[in-house]
Amino acid sequence: MPLTPNTELDLLFPDSLISGDVKRALHQDLHIRPLASTDYNRGHLSVLSVLTEISDPGEAAWKAQFDALRAFPETYYVVVILDRATDKIFGVGTLVVERKFTRGLGKVGHIEDIAVDKAQQGKKIGLRIINALTYISETLGCYKTILNCSESNLIIYPRLIDLRRKLAFYEKCGFEKKECEMVYQVRERARTTIIDSHNNN
Ligand SMILES: CC(C)(COP(=O)(O)OP(=O)(O)OC[C@H]1O[C@@H](n2cnc3c(N)ncnc32)[C@H](O)[C@@H]1OP(=O)(O)O)[C@@H](O)C(=O)NCCC(=O)NCCS
Repeated sequence: MPLTPNTELDLLFPDSLISGDVKRALHQDLHIRPLASTDYNRGHLSVLSVLTEISDPGEAAWKAQFDALRAFPETYYVVVILDRATDKIFGVGTLVVERKFTRGLGKVGHIEDIAVDKAQQGKKIGLRIINALTYISETLGCYKTILNCSESNLIIYPRLIDLRRKLAFYEKCGFEKKECEMVYQVRERARTTIIDSHNNN
């Protein structure tokens, strides 16, 4: 199935927030736009499965999550890159805008869940998604844009083809390493208790 035009879709946020420069830089076989309410059927979860194990919640639950994101105005910005020939999603990424009481009631952009279909990696799709998300973040007035990533995306690695040492993906996208992240993993029993007590209220 060929690409569905934006005008026939219910988009998460206005397409005008997608950078014109990123659109122009994109390969002609690809299309970039906000997530649409029917993207469950365009392989959205399958692309995300390169990041982590995905259990398919079904289309109705997926759509309910889409509606839940949209219920928070000016907070969630999910961008997808699709193949024009098949209307399938090749890459995805999210920007979450945090509103702060510090920095003159400033805003911080958080980039999350960057994923490119395994067969399409290495074609600048990830780079274009990051560029699109940082553009949205800047346009919305965020004073910085931050993200967490695994060490394997950070290290300077040697490329076998040309033996030159390359900067890692996010450094290529203009990011630099700063500070460190701590995590508190919610244990399974605690998680069940929290969900149970929430459901009982
Ligand atoms: C990491 C990922 C998003 C990169 O997307 P991509 O479309 O394959 O990358 P791009 O083609 O846009 O790469 C841009 C640049 O970063 C470099 N790069 C890409 N992946 C890299 C990696 N894992 N480590 C180091 N450098 C990398 C590329 O070589 C390229 O540099 P070049 O311009 O000198 O050739 C993608 O490979 C992916 O989905 N991986 C699995 C999921 C994941 O790790 N997501 C990030 C979570 S922290």
